[in-house]
Amino acid sequence: MKRLFIGLTALVMTTGLVLGSVANADPKRDLEEYQNYFKKRFPGLSLDDYADGHYSLPAAAAARTEWEEHMAFPPYEIDLVKGKKFWDENGLASCFKNGGKNIAQGYPYWDAKRKEIRTIEEDINECLTKSGKKPIKDLKKGLMAAVVAHFRSMSNGQRMAVQVPKEAEAEYEYGKHFFWAKRGQLNFSCASCHVLKSGQHAGGNVLSAGLGHTTGFPVYRLKWGGLGTVHRRYGGCNKQVRAKPFKAQSREYTALEFYEAYMNTGVPIKAPSMRE
Ligand code: HEC
Repeated sequence: MKRLFIGLTALVMTTGLVLGSVANADPKRDLEEYQNYFKKRFPGLSLDDYADGHYSLPAAAAARTEWEEHMAFPPYEIDLVKGKKFWDENGLASCFKNGGKNIAQGYPYWDAKRKEIRTIEEDINECLTKSGKKPIKDLKKGLMAAVVAHFRSMSNGQRMAVQVPKEAEAEYEYGKHFFWAKRGQLNFSCASCHVLKSGQHAGGNVLSAGLGHTTGFPVYRLKWGGLGTVHRRYGGCNKQVRAKPFKAQSREYTALEFYEAYMNTGVPIKAPSMRE
């Protein structure tokens, strides 16, 4: 893992570019290295524990108690009802395999015909337009987050199982490099905080492990006062290091989600959730 990290840092520093080295892509090996790294770093945690974000980490034990109290009366309950109502009223089940139940573990997925990664937000909007309805505009919060929360809640307990076929390796590498490349005025990569410093305190927060990212989303954040998708969170994390955030559903965040979701292979979905 360290070798991989140093290698990528050197690449970024010397070239100033983030290029996918598709010829050497080996997602399976990446996955093994990534999960083994966290196994060693947090030996007391099972794969299932990572579904709870930073609350499962030893340093966040106090925050966890408070979180469990919140989760007894989750603040997203109303949104979940709203999301289900919209799903039912718009016949969204008809666009998805198994009516949308127990399929979220395969998202995002590589669409071989279109040669692109598809997210659930895109599939929901496509389903709406197919039946002559307006797509949902705000892709980060509000109604879309509520509908995605309902969709993902129908797959709770399913273990993440994103596939990376050969043709998807270039986008996979694009997402992987986004995760490992340093950026912003503070010159941090996602991995600086969520791999190398995971489990440590940072500004009153315990940094979550990258393993498990995406499984609890959408989440209701007290700071947001509402639900947000994982792309909303990515934007916030980019801003923290004074880097330019990308748009929700941009190629960058979609590839990043694809990489993170694949790294979560085997972690159960537990969505929506709540964060402080
Ligand atoms: C300067 C440190 C820092 C960097 C760099 C950073 N983050 Fe974060 N991130 C945080 C903090 C702090 C939180 C809130 C505590 C937590 O859950 O880790 C957070 C939360 C998250 C979460 C929510 C996890 C959950 O289950 O609630 C995701 C997902 C995430 N970050 C992804 C990323 C990605 C992807 C990148 C790179 C684009 C990134 N972060 C870069 C500090 C950082």
